[in-house]
Amino acid sequence: MTDALLISPAPTRMCGELSPPGDKAISHRALMFGAVAHGQSRIRNCAVGGDNRSTVGALRELGVDIVQNGSEVIVTGRGWAGLRASSSPLDCGNSGTTARLLCGVLSGRVFASRLDGDASLRGRPMGRVIDPLRQMGARITAEGGTHLPLYIHGLGPDQVLRAVRYRSPVASAQVKSAILLAGLQARGTTQVWEPVRSRDHTERMLTAFGGRVEVRGTMVSVAGEQRLHACELEVPGDLSSAAFFIGAGLIVPHSELQVSGVGLNPTRTGVLDIFRAMGGTLRIDNERRVGGEPVGDVVVHASRLRGTRIDGALVVRAIDEFPIIAVAAACAEGTTVIRGAQELRVKESDRLRTIAIALQAFGVGVTELPDGLVIEGRTGQDQPFRAAAVSSGGDHRIAMALSVAGLRAGGPLVLERASCVDISFPGFYRVLQELSGVDIRAVQ
Ligand code: S3P
Repeated sequence: MTDALLISPAPTRMCGELSPPGDKAISHRALMFGAVAHGQSRIRNCAVGGDNRSTVGALRELGVDIVQNGSEVIVTGRGWAGLRASSSPLDCGNSGTTARLLCGVLSGRVFASRLDGDASLRGRPMGRVIDPLRQMGARITAEGGTHLPLYIHGLGPDQVLRAVRYRSPVASAQVKSAILLAGLQARGTTQVWEPVRSRDHTERMLTAFGGRVEVRGTMVSVAGEQRLHACELEVPGDLSSAAFFIGAGLIVPHSELQVSGVGLNPTRTGVLDIFRAMGGTLRIDNERRVGGEPVGDVVVHASRLRGTRIDGALVVRAIDEFPIIAVAAACAEGTTVIRGAQELRVKESDRLRTIAIALQAFGVGVTELPDGLVIEGRTGQDQPFRAAAVSSGGDHRIAMALSVAGLRAGGPLVLERASCVDISFPGFYRVLQELSGVDIRAVQ
């Protein structure tokens, strides 16, 4: 059996309603804070994809009691000191958030830990967390100095981390969160500055767990040696998963879709701003708060899209959505220019390269730049995408974006390395099939 799917477009519109899975980034944090808090935390609508399973697996290896019943998870924490050395390496799988945030948690512990991951994660930069954590007194060695597998030697018996004032060269919530997690265990007050403010789920969740955090512009600070308390929380739906259906609703003619219960944290909503700038018709209904985060229902109508320019802070606020933004840009009138997005080269795949290769195979005019893409929209075409065989490169978000392109393809498309959608959206193909009528079957 191969890992390829045959996706045949159907002449139907997208219509109906869906609720995306729980937010992956927020779920990682809920699991980790629950693990180091005191008491039993109950997490509802926790994401259960491969990345979050990596976090659950690693925390269990560290002696944390986690009981999971579907998307409801009970984590029993016994404080920072309740964590125990793992006898085997902690397998972070494909998950950058698991690896980088665990570095922050484990740097403050007295025992040694080894962290590893799959081939994609082994290729991703870890120096960005190793440097600041070393400044705090952590002893870390890594493959080539900067990559997994990575070894955290553990502090001496009477040693604690020291607080740091760190100016991060990258806007990265993973880097910021790793430093804050170490800072919570350190002596003194830790401060982190970012060039542009990245997603703030760690800061929000810290408050829910009884922690103290101060935010001033692009600076976040935490006092050290904080004791956290278990809490109950509900995870909002993942905007990054919803984005594939919002994009599909925009590009498939006559569509009308409602994506319900979507997290609308302003540090994440760049994709909605970009779709609107492209002329997309989006409405937010039923705005409310869930687990300290803004949530709403996104109603999308098929729209005539036009090209746009994306750079600067907007890139950070849409960092995971470029695969679907690129597919929408290919269906728009005119050119879309994406700049300042060099971080996309160090995601689950080199996303600038994987997107460019796939869109070229589809017959779309794409130029790859060192820090972005130029995409020529093919709005004059009934089917902007030529039937082709394309690969996700093992990257979940690329697989989902290319499947959505399949809805506007001139014929069946073969999607290689398709099963990786499980990383963030188990059941994605079933939902796509139900809402669009597209025929999706395994290639034997
Ligand atoms: C994430 C932060 C982002 C994002 C990733 C999840 C997080 O990465 O791309 O998918 O959970 O904090 P960076 O912080 O490296 O930009």
